[in-house]
Amino acid sequence: MTIDELKRQAAAKALEYVRDGMKLGLGTGSTAKHFVELLGERVAGGLKVICVPTSEATRAQAESCGIALTTLDDVDRLDLTVDGADEIDPQPNLIKGGGGALLREKIVATASDRMIVIADETKWVAMLGRFPLPVEVIPFGLAATRRAIVEAFAQSGVSGQMAVRNGSDGHAFVTDGGHWIIDAHLGQIPDAPRLAGLLSSIPGVVEHGLFIGQASIAMLAGSDGIRIFERP
Ligand code: 5RP
Repeated sequence: MTIDELKRQAAAKALEYVRDGMKLGLGTGSTAKHFVELLGERVAGGLKVICVPTSEATRAQAESCGIALTTLDDVDRLDLTVDGADEIDPQPNLIKGGGGALLREKIVATASDRMIVIADETKWVAMLGRFPLPVEVIPFGLAATRRAIVEAFAQSGVSGQMAVRNGSDGHAFVTDGGHWIIDAHLGQIPDAPRLAGLLSSIPGVVEHGLFIGQASIAMLAGSDGIRIFERP
């Protein structure tokens, strides 16, 4: 089975948790894209849901699938968010933001009663950090913010190369919120909750890709089927 087929299997499994009348958060990325597509098929068949997308790309896809959309200004809480991830550890804690949508993804996940993370099994790690950690920053004062990030890394016992992410045009990648992303190649993050707290306290950091305590369930599709990890 290809990686893409595994992603679709995980997405189909998450769809089993969707009920009529739910308010949903829709993630971003190639795995979330499968979920949106499958959800669109159910909506076409009569399922009633209303959804908040986590990116302009997901908004466009959901609209083309006929899925009703709303915003967090118009609904109080969401019942469930389904999203992908770049890395998933046993907690399950996550690294997200490979697709650059981490800020809206975290806002939407935080406004949800439950978050299901869907992935193929290659995203599973014993310890977060192999995937470069995305840190969304304000372009103003970038060098000062960068120094503060290096200090936060040192305080939580990690270090590594950092690079401003480029878009396909060779210029800095700009997020939906108009910010830039620094990708930090740390290798391992032994204390992810501590690092998350330190990064969140830096003024020029808008958000970071460590999702600590947010995923309630992780669904990892592999050649032997789907493994489900539930936060106790
Ligand atoms: C986007 C994300 C994605 O969920 C993450 O990058 C996984 O993407 P994919 O499903 O394409 O592997 O965090 O910001």
